[in-house]
Amino acid sequence: MTDGDTDLSGPDLTGPAPAPDGPVSVVDYSERIPNNVGLAADRRLQRALEAWQPRFLDWWGALGPSLPTRDVYLRTAVAIGRDGWASWSRVPMEQYRWGIFLSERDEPRQIAFGKHKGEPAWAQVPGEYRSELRRLIVVQGDTEPASVEQQRHLGATAPSLYDLRNLFQVNVEEGRHLWAMVYLLHAYFGRDGREEAEQLLHRHSGHPDSPRILGAFNEETTDWLSFFMFTYFTDRDGKYQLGTLKESGFDPLSRTCEFMLREEAHHMFVGTTGVQRVVQRSAAVTAEHGTDDIWRHGAIPLPVIQKYLNQHYSLSLDLFGSETSSNAAAYFTAGLKGRWMETRRHDDHLLTDATARIPVVDDGQISTRTVPALTALNLDLRDEYVADCERGLRKWNGDLAKAGLDWRLTLPHVGFNRQVGAFTGHCISPAGELIGADDWAGHAAGWLPTADDRAQVAALMTPHYEAGDFAGWLAPPPTGINDLPVEYDYVRF
Ligand SMILES: [Fe+2]
Ligand SMILES: [Fe+2]
Repeated sequence: MTDGDTDLSGPDLTGPAPAPDGPVSVVDYSERIPNNVGLAADRRLQRALEAWQPRFLDWWGALGPSLPTRDVYLRTAVAIGRDGWASWSRVPMEQYRWGIFLSERDEPRQIAFGKHKGEPAWAQVPGEYRSELRRLIVVQGDTEPASVEQQRHLGATAPSLYDLRNLFQVNVEEGRHLWAMVYLLHAYFGRDGREEAEQLLHRHSGHPDSPRILGAFNEETTDWLSFFMFTYFTDRDGKYQLGTLKESGFDPLSRTCEFMLREEAHHMFVGTTGVQRVVQRSAAVTAEHGTDDIWRHGAIPLPVIQKYLNQHYSLSLDLFGSETSSNAAAYFTAGLKGRWMETRRHDDHLLTDATARIPVVDDGQISTRTVPALTALNLDLRDEYVADCERGLRKWNGDLAKAGLDWRLTLPHVGFNRQVGAFTGHCISPAGELIGADDWAGHAAGWLPTADDRAQVAALMTPHYEAGDFAGWLAPPPTGINDLPVEYDYVRF
């Protein structure tokens, strides 16, 4: 299981690929669709997925990375065992082997929560929960191709080949996550599952008529500072959502999400270290020149980094939904979606009598109200997420302190700039004060990126495609990928 600390181990999480004669967990790459789900034994399913594959490749060609490349040094999942699950090689991206992998279980699993607690986990979809499970899978599945679409043009302005390679690694793995969800839809949901799988390729990020399901996945990721913030804050939402689905009573979903979380650790790494390297450079330039205004020195002012952080954090908080949700309660009680680290919690895992406090805005004040804990599960997950976000900030602030600066990055109040839940429609400052609309309008340019900030950031985004060359607005990483040197040519044209 990933936790905050795995963020920084990133690529090192993966060991060498296991020997080809290893345990059953080795994946058959001679098949058109690499998998460890016994696809060859289910002809109908295999045919259905082989029919979907060219449509996926068409989508990748049309809406995947727009920068033409010859090959990219990529990690490919090849096994699901504990002592190594990935191989590394230079791959033409369109030939990446997108496969279907489920974590294996040593023992039969029991449902850990809700009214089916203690029963064996389901190998098939229970008829009574069919539409709820399908919906959960579709919503998760929709985010995966969405982020590839959002990041499509970033290759044109990569700050180094190292960073370009990391972008493409995230992209191919989000593509694989789409495969993971499409497999579940095809294998367990019959014709409506197949139709949903088509829709996952039909909806497009930011499309006026058929946008992606969740708001944050319809904003284009326009520059690399946004990309690092996205992988830090928005991919981290993904990590927490996968964590709840990993607890699901529907075992194939649980095992799928458990495997996805391994890949997700690298996405967290890209975000954590990406922002960190920007902060390091900005801190050094700020300290050297004794001013915040460091645009003219080719670096991003710390207050602008804070504004980008404010925006991505608040958008990502919206992805957790309303603080109170009867759907979340129903999903939990039915055993479909658990809490983060459900099995490590010391309570009855039923929550029928438990209560929780949720924020409310009432009479011009932010206060709290007590509600049944079951209805406050979105907030429970969001609180876990916020605590995890704070860990990265401590690292970044450590670098600011090391540079001798008093400036610190902070997470804004959870009510700041929100479009979903209890704070919607209220003007709340980053410090958490409820303010008037005029006050908000007067301060917004100091709290959220302005058009001018974006233009200045965009002006710094020039491609650096010589091996070992790095843009001046971020520090180079301390080490390369998979023990290769930082100056390795990770991408070839
Ligand atoms: Fe993903
Ligand atoms: Fe991700």
